[in-house]
Amino acid sequence: MPTIRLASETDVAGWRQAARALRAGQVAPEETLWTVDGAGGDLFGEAGPILPAGRLAADGPAFTVPRDFVELADRVILHRSDERFVLLYRMLWRLAREPHLMRLHSDPDVQKAQHFARAVSQAAHKMKAFVRFRLVTGPDGEEYYVAWFEPAHRVAEVTAPFFARRFASMHFSILTPDACVHWDTQVLAVLPGADPADAPSEDSLEDYWRTYYASIFNPARLKVGAMMKEMPKRYWRNLPEARLIPDLIAQAEARTTTMVRQTPSTPSRRVVAAVHRTLRDAPFDGQGMRSLEEVQVAVQECRRCDLHCDATQGVTGEGPAQARLMLVGEQPGDQEDLAGRPFVGPAGQMLDRALIEAGIARDRAFVTNAVKHFKHELRGKRRIHQTPGAGEVTACRWWLDAERRLIRPRVIVAMGATAALSVFGKPVAIGASRQQALPLPNQAQGVVTYHPAYLLRLPDAQAAAKAYAAFVADLKFAAGLAA
Ligand code: URA
Repeated sequence: MPTIRLASETDVAGWRQAARALRAGQVAPEETLWTVDGAGGDLFGEAGPILPAGRLAADGPAFTVPRDFVELADRVILHRSDERFVLLYRMLWRLAREPHLMRLHSDPDVQKAQHFARAVSQAAHKMKAFVRFRLVTGPDGEEYYVAWFEPAHRVAEVTAPFFARRFASMHFSILTPDACVHWDTQVLAVLPGADPADAPSEDSLEDYWRTYYASIFNPARLKVGAMMKEMPKRYWRNLPEARLIPDLIAQAEARTTTMVRQTPSTPSRRVVAAVHRTLRDAPFDGQGMRSLEEVQVAVQECRRCDLHCDATQGVTGEGPAQARLMLVGEQPGDQEDLAGRPFVGPAGQMLDRALIEAGIARDRAFVTNAVKHFKHELRGKRRIHQTPGAGEVTACRWWLDAERRLIRPRVIVAMGATAALSVFGKPVAIGASRQQALPLPNQAQGVVTYHPAYLLRLPDAQAAAKAYAAFVADLKFAAGLAA
């Protein structure tokens, strides 16, 4: 029985090449063993010839595989299970005879692969949310941000571009047991992992990194060609000339502190299991969500549009499950994205003030957004809000509908045009529709008003005061309907 040897634990290209060659050569899955360069032999028992994956060439008719399988495989390979390579190859093998395999959600192989893929996505999400940087001074006198993180699966390399985009102007290193990523504001380098046995304590991270840095950045050892991955060209224009400008540091520190302080509580295993069941059995049907907690967990897996790619996390609504009043904004902003809670930034402060004036206790309303991920564009060091498109609003309506179904509010206030589009399913002219009870399904009533961020943007103080008064009046009107 041949043993296929991959170059690394995350050698996606090697796996693809070998799997193509094996399937073309009609080698059945049960006739293969898979190993990784450097892995001990015991893991796989007695084996026949060892074939380096990169040298296997497909010899037979070309074939195509469904795109969703390719996407699934890319994630499954990052799972820590030793079973993943053979599982994927078995699926690839079966796809030749069962072209609809990927739609069989009850099939044990499909289920297992989806389970692995979700675990990997969750690990990537956790890494994006929980990496904590510490500011250190490097041997060269420059300042660096350093973090140690142990992801549940091998996601360091795939999440690295996210950190490079987010902290474009910072020199940083993220050390993990699988791979260490370094960003020097221009080039993202992925180097071998640090030894988990040496995991530094909070206090020794600095020393540990200095030793690591000194050894890894010995120019004689750095294999530039093999190890560096250039950032896509589209990010080049965002690279600021100045490095580690003091206010950037302050901002980054504040963000990190916010991230750390606002660490969301971990959902119970029961909820996570229920979400996975729901997503597995009804992958495109929000009807399956049975609690707000399930919605919160499930949103983190959402791939209904691309906004999840650059956001820290999905931000769902907040408030009592029996709220009579639901307030819907557009999408989380920069601060909401980091904190994982809606309306906590400047627009949130404006909303809080208006709610108090309108006599509404925020904690008795359910506050949410039409779109659950932060859409933005990087401009230098800043993440600039971008209005979500109609396609993104429609894709995300699924989640707002799940929240509406669970809460069944009497009154839904749509703040701004995006919220109104989502709540009513069609564009609504805000100015012309204010102060009206608009019919909605399930005996609910809708009210439209301005978005609090709009009030913040008005340049003329008089116009701003007038719009603010109208906003408060609309909230009072909605509270009256809900009472
Ligand atoms: N703007 C919104 O629409 N929602 C938020 O949560 C924050 C800002």
